[in-house]
Amino acid sequence: LAAKSEQSSVAVLPAAQAAVSSTLTILYVSQTGNAKGVAQQLAQSAEAAGISVNLKNVADYKAKSLKSETHLLIVASTNGEGEAPDDGLEFHEFLFSKKAPKLPNLKYSVLALGDSSYEFFCQTGKDFDERLKALGATQVSARVDCDVDYDSDAKAWSTQIVETLKEELTSSDDALAPVVNLPVSNSSVSSYNKQNPYAAEFLVSQKITGRESAKDVRHIEIDLGESGLQYQPGDALGVWFENDLALVDELLQLLAFAGDEPVTFIKDDSEQTLAIREALVSVFEITQTAPSFVDFWAKTSASAQLLALAEDKNALREFAANHQLVDILKLAPAKVTPQELIDTLRKMTPRLYSIASSQAEVDEEVHLTVGLVSYERDGKTRLGGASGYLAQRLEEGAKVKVFIEHNDNFRLPESDDTPVIMIGPGTGVAPFRAFMQEREARDAGGDNWMFFGDQTFTQDFLYQVEWQNYLKSGLLTKMNVAFSRDQAEKIYVQDRLKEQAKDVFAWLERGAHLYVCGDANRMAKDVHNTLLEIIAQEGGLSTEQAEDYLKTLRVSKRYQKDVY
Ligand code: 2AM
Repeated sequence: LAAKSEQSSVAVLPAAQAAVSSTLTILYVSQTGNAKGVAQQLAQSAEAAGISVNLKNVADYKAKSLKSETHLLIVASTNGEGEAPDDGLEFHEFLFSKKAPKLPNLKYSVLALGDSSYEFFCQTGKDFDERLKALGATQVSARVDCDVDYDSDAKAWSTQIVETLKEELTSSDDALAPVVNLPVSNSSVSSYNKQNPYAAEFLVSQKITGRESAKDVRHIEIDLGESGLQYQPGDALGVWFENDLALVDELLQLLAFAGDEPVTFIKDDSEQTLAIREALVSVFEITQTAPSFVDFWAKTSASAQLLALAEDKNALREFAANHQLVDILKLAPAKVTPQELIDTLRKMTPRLYSIASSQAEVDEEVHLTVGLVSYERDGKTRLGGASGYLAQRLEEGAKVKVFIEHNDNFRLPESDDTPVIMIGPGTGVAPFRAFMQEREARDAGGDNWMFFGDQTFTQDFLYQVEWQNYLKSGLLTKMNVAFSRDQAEKIYVQDRLKEQAKDVFAWLERGAHLYVCGDANRMAKDVHNTLLEIIAQEGGLSTEQAEDYLKTLRVSKRYQKDVY
């Protein structure tokens, strides 16, 4: 990317123009690729408008050069815990440090991507915005905070910002307009992507938790056929799903809609009209609730319970996370028109599943490990939108719309000799199955150590036979398991880590890469704290030094997380 952007800012512009116009620097900090995609599109439209662009991943940007910038746009994603994605940690730290320069000559704007069901919604973008302002920079356009269905908000911000900057950043001489320089994305040669998914064949769905398990986890196999789609271990599969027709009918009944009422909405930049039944099946989210919807419904229904909730942001978010649309309509009946309802719902977004296979092993197939989200309310079983679709409604042989979401922040070490430590309880096991397949195919000599955890040994040991075979063959050097409910006291992966403190530290000291996949809220935090304890104890370091040690690992991509 660095080479590309130099091309667009230097080679393309004739010298005469370079003197009168300055460059627009666009930085992105992405976890799964959304912010990168938005930034690439923004760069394209800016270049099409005649602006000279320098587009960079913030990890490849020298923060010190901020001083010499005049125009800066940042597109920033936020982790679930409100932290910057790994690639943005250093830049974030720099901006908040004493080293950060005053920036009186800088004009900037920030587009923040996030998920309003998390407490620290768009926090990274907010942080950048606040710090740039504090350093004396001028906001040219207000920060926009986008929710998970970010497309139209991101587009509106991009269009507006290009319009605003065009005057300042281009010469009036049209003849000098630079050639549009399209950034080429990733290694994949396929033309399928999020907006244009591939209709893949759904091959296999097999329950891999036992009959007595409290959970229903599926091993799923999908055929990428002739799509040309390619992925690497660590990547995710994006899945577009359809809502349950029975659930949609239940909603229609509650609202006293016939189902054939036409509703109008903007999708893929154009206005579309569909019968509300179809719109609820395939265009709008009905199984995930935005806190803003609960707020709207509180006012519409005038329900005392919901109105009270709406007063407390945390309670509102918590409630939204645990109630589907149908639960809310039952709890607080109200009258709205079909169009009014549609206007308040979020557009469906595809779900990303960490891929559980390596193409070196399974060729054009892609495997997933999917936990069915399910809970009981009012005597009815409510299922997650995408997991219900994959685990129950989709028949083998049917088509499912998919695309690959590359994740450069979760990659095996470059060298096959580098040891890896993998921590993946529950469905967090998925990418490590891919890692092992890949390392086996490559005949990689590096040591592999797996930590797995789940509720019980007999019911929940996901891919048990495969792990045992890898141990037997020697590909897997060590495996430690934590079954939390097989004894009176809970035992978790971090307890096993702690027991292995000496070895864990020794592996890190000899260059091991560390990977954590699975639950972000509790597990990843507890594992992180345990790692700090281990490093402090075994390395004879203070807490602060141990934090630095882990941070160095993160920045050098030796400690990578895929948590959700
Ligand atoms: P539990 O449900 O018995 O508490 C996979 O879901 C495994 O992760 C389960 O064994 C679950 O245990 C466990 N788990 C729950 N909370 C955890 C935490 N804070 N850290 C690590 N593992 C946890």
